[in-house]
Amino acid sequence: MADDDHIEAVLARLSRPQKLALVRGATDPEGTATGYLSGVEEAGIPPFRLVDGPLGIRAEGQRATAFPASIATAATFDPDLARQQGAAMGREAAALGQDALLAPGVNIIRVPHCGRNFEYLSEDPVHAGAVGAGLIDGIQSADVVATVKHFVANNQETHRTTVSTEVDERTLRELYLPPFRSAVDAGVGSVMTAYNRVNGTHMSDHGRLVGDVLKSEWGFNGYVVSDWYGLESTVGAANAGMDVEMPGVAAPGAAEAANSDTADDAEEFEWPDGIPDATRAGLFGDPLVEAIDSGEVPAERLDDMVRRVLGQMDRFGRLDGSRTAAEDGASDDQAGELDSQRHRDIAADVAARGTVLLDNDGVLPLADGADVAVIGPNIDEPKLGGGGSSETTPVHSVTPVAGIESRAEGAVTTAFGVPQIESVSLFDLLPFVGEDDDTDGTAADIAQQDPSLDDAVDAAAAADVAVVFVRDATTEARDRDSLALPGQQDDLVSAVAATNENTVVVVRSGGPVELPWREDVAAVLEQWYPGQADGDAAAAVLYGDRDPSGRLPVTFAPEGEYPTAGAERRYPGVDDEVHYDEDVFIGYRHFDDEDADPTYPFGHGHSYATFEYGDAEITGEWTVAVPVKNAADRPGREVIQAYVRPPSVDGVDRPRRELAGFEAVQLDADEQKTVALTLDDLAFSRYDPNSGWTVDTGTYTVEIGRSSRDIRTTVPVDR
Ligand code: BGC
Repeated sequence: MADDDHIEAVLARLSRPQKLALVRGATDPEGTATGYLSGVEEAGIPPFRLVDGPLGIRAEGQRATAFPASIATAATFDPDLARQQGAAMGREAAALGQDALLAPGVNIIRVPHCGRNFEYLSEDPVHAGAVGAGLIDGIQSADVVATVKHFVANNQETHRTTVSTEVDERTLRELYLPPFRSAVDAGVGSVMTAYNRVNGTHMSDHGRLVGDVLKSEWGFNGYVVSDWYGLESTVGAANAGMDVEMPGVAAPGAAEAANSDTADDAEEFEWPDGIPDATRAGLFGDPLVEAIDSGEVPAERLDDMVRRVLGQMDRFGRLDGSRTAAEDGASDDQAGELDSQRHRDIAADVAARGTVLLDNDGVLPLADGADVAVIGPNIDEPKLGGGGSSETTPVHSVTPVAGIESRAEGAVTTAFGVPQIESVSLFDLLPFVGEDDDTDGTAADIAQQDPSLDDAVDAAAAADVAVVFVRDATTEARDRDSLALPGQQDDLVSAVAATNENTVVVVRSGGPVELPWREDVAAVLEQWYPGQADGDAAAAVLYGDRDPSGRLPVTFAPEGEYPTAGAERRYPGVDDEVHYDEDVFIGYRHFDDEDADPTYPFGHGHSYATFEYGDAEITGEWTVAVPVKNAADRPGREVIQAYVRPPSVDGVDRPRRELAGFEAVQLDADEQKTVALTLDDLAFSRYDPNSGWTVDTGTYTVEIGRSSRDIRTTVPVDR
């Protein structure tokens, strides 16, 4: 039977209450899922479990591989490695009995302060789209539904549940929608809507963006799921094209928490900023029945919702029992796999490959026998991720100290220097969650001795090299107040750098941070949130076992120079509206437009090797070929980036250059390869609100280089 016929046959047998069980979440009897559809046993439809994402699997009470933060995956500029990570996460989700993973997050990094930048991929839509597609392809290769989120224009955590993003059509089309479009083209099974409004309409009620653009125009045929407690209405949402309400049931204790707070005074309880009202549930239950009976929602809409859910269940083998057979060992990927050696290796691979060497005066790679002082307030705990729904608890993890100790051949000394930086978590903000008593067995739980700056300086003075590990602390539901490193870490770096000229700083941050001492130190590495492989990955790059082949997916600049700086209207918004007045000029587009030099540009990152670029040539429509040679005496990995500079057109303000494609290559010492990059029509297009995607006639320049500010060769293209 053809798939469609099969689904129609199943659908035809379902009663209305049975259909509702497929569109409204319920409580997972096993308690592991983040979201649960109970299925319809009588009709052979099994329960369906959705789980967070995107740094690994966050199944309640379970451990799983803690992969690096998504921004680190993106920094690899390697969609194939992203695919491997996705496949590993898919297999882990399967092993934990889950059916859909709530990943990847592809929101564009617009505001450097956003508390969730670590869960996202890039300030550039082509880059985010390519890495996101790799993750999706991987997740779904393990027969687990990928859920691209949060659709759309959810680019800050402040007021995320109420704020309206005021954005024009061109900006939406050119920057914020494309990664979702790429996800749909990659065959993503599910899309999660965002909590925010766009131009005044809540995303779950947004008929134009959900129904017209996503479903009709792009042809998305999977299901659209709400963010948790993020369904705004019954009628508006059903008619807009929402298919599944999650979690569908109030959070245990939420109503009590809301009521108890108001017991003493008459004021209405207010949910903390960034936290949705967790009593809000059941809109796709009885209210949907009533709306259908009253004719406000067509009955066909419910069938369409169910058809879409069943379609994905069928596509991934949940309806015909093939999945159950797989769990008995029929196929490796389908049966799942948890915390295996290959998953540990992938986590380590992504962490190392995503590490960006921001500066290096030659101190790196370290000599095997160097005596090293490992310094920093959190050197005894791995930096797994940021706070919130992506928190993953690993079976195994490596602290910075442990990683360096196991690799170093010289002496290793340690010092904390300044007080520990505490992690922050969305869960600490939830009024109905008790004291966080979980311990993941990492050294974070061990009380530190009084840290002393003098000890750190003494350790640095006695060593050949001082490696200082610093970090920020970010979480879902909260933006950062500042781009400065928290606590006294800047003082620590400065004091160590004043003592030892071979000071290397390893930064762990969820996005751009300010590094005021960067010219006083010998090298700076950006490791993002490296996940469970933390110390091993750091050591592999520091000692040169791995080339630091990460490149920046976001521009690093002083806080005051971002396009959102100093303009409350733009961020965090005024009267619950955030105006994207900078239009398409975010990230490197902004710095190019302003002729301003960022601290580190988009695409930047050194290698331990040295690459020489030959002349680019057009070899086909529109393929650009460029010879790249590794001129060093060691292997290295280069990320070749192609940008397009458009011709100037009267009355149209376009970015000076836009990323059109990229390719990562591994080259042995002295090896040369010709790298071909094929550019699609969109690479030359702009979105015209009247005529849609438009390629202006004229001469374009394809720029090939190492970063957006390090162009090595150019070639003209007439269109
Ligand atoms: C987040 C989603 C997440 C969901 C379920 C929400 O707070 O915005 O990204 O998947 O919770 O945990």
